Amino acid sequence: MNSARLLRSAIVLWEAFAVTVESKSYNVRQSEFGGTMLDCTYQLEKQQPVRLEWKKVDLNGDVSFVFYNNSLAADLQKRAEMIESSILFRNLTRGDSGQYRCEVTAPQDRKNFQEIIINLAVLVAPSVPVCDIPSTAMSGSVVELKCREKEGNPASEYKWYKNGLALELSAMSTNATYKVDKKAGTLVSNPLSFIYTYVWCACSLIRQFAVRSPWTLHVACSN
Ligand SMILES: *[C@@H]1O[C@H](CO)[C@@H](O)[C@H](O)[C@H]1NC(C)=O
Ligand SMILES: *[C@@H]1O[C@H](CO)[C@@H](O)[C@H](O)[C@H]1NC(C)=O
Ligand SMILES: *[C@@H]1O[C@H](CO)[C@@H](O)[C@H](O)[C@H]1NC(C)=O
Repeated sequence: MNSARLLRSAIVLWEAFAVTVESKSYNVRQSEFGGTMLDCTYQLEKQQPVRLEWKKVDLNGDVSFVFYNNSLAADLQKRAEMIESSILFRNLTRGDSGQYRCEVTAPQDRKNFQEIIINLAVLVAPSVPVCDIPSTAMSGSVVELKCREKEGNPASEYKWYKNGLALELSAMSTNATYKVDKKAGTLVSNPLSFIYTYVWCACSLIRQFAVRSPWTLHVACSN
């Protein structure tokens, strides 16, 4: 036998001694208020009652029970249900984002525990951004323009335009008169060497906004 076949045989043998857990989808993305399934199925070495638990690790690292002692957490009971060992969400909230661990304990199997992790990202449209844009600036001075919004998931990325052309330089290159940080939402111009006619926009997968600076002539940020 070659080594690949040997390895496959070893895996098959190992699985026959073990509870094995798997999912059709380990990375799930769905819009807020939508529905989705966190799929988890298991196979056993021998038929027996198992202990199934789901835990959630939220974005701050806090762990909580989602499914424990054969029941869903109280706050989920109205908007989710168990379909065998999977969780069907009917109405997602933004707080549902996080890592979900499906854990199966089968005491009579020789390898009697396995868990899998499923990432759930609940997509949230960005809110109207709040911008800090100086209304006047001295010629020759450094100026920072900044826009933020906190709702969007994934986090919004920001683009700045001058006369309809995107400003893309992230580092101050030799000739650049500005730099942008698309995650921080800033545009720093050093020095303020030209007349600005900017439009800013928060761009996410879901929705975009255009915000004009006081100097903007006009450009629309289209989808
Ligand atoms: C598990 O649920 C049952 C009722 O379904 C209850 O009697 C029991 O006390 C619960 N156990 C724990 C540890 O919460
Ligand atoms: C989903 O939940 C939101 C509140 O979180 C509620 O406003 C909305 O009506 C719910 N949608 C459905 C279809 O139940
Ligand atoms: C910077 O400006 C110089 C002279 O104006 C020019 O030769 C050079 O190509 C420019 N470099 C870039 C990266 O635009």
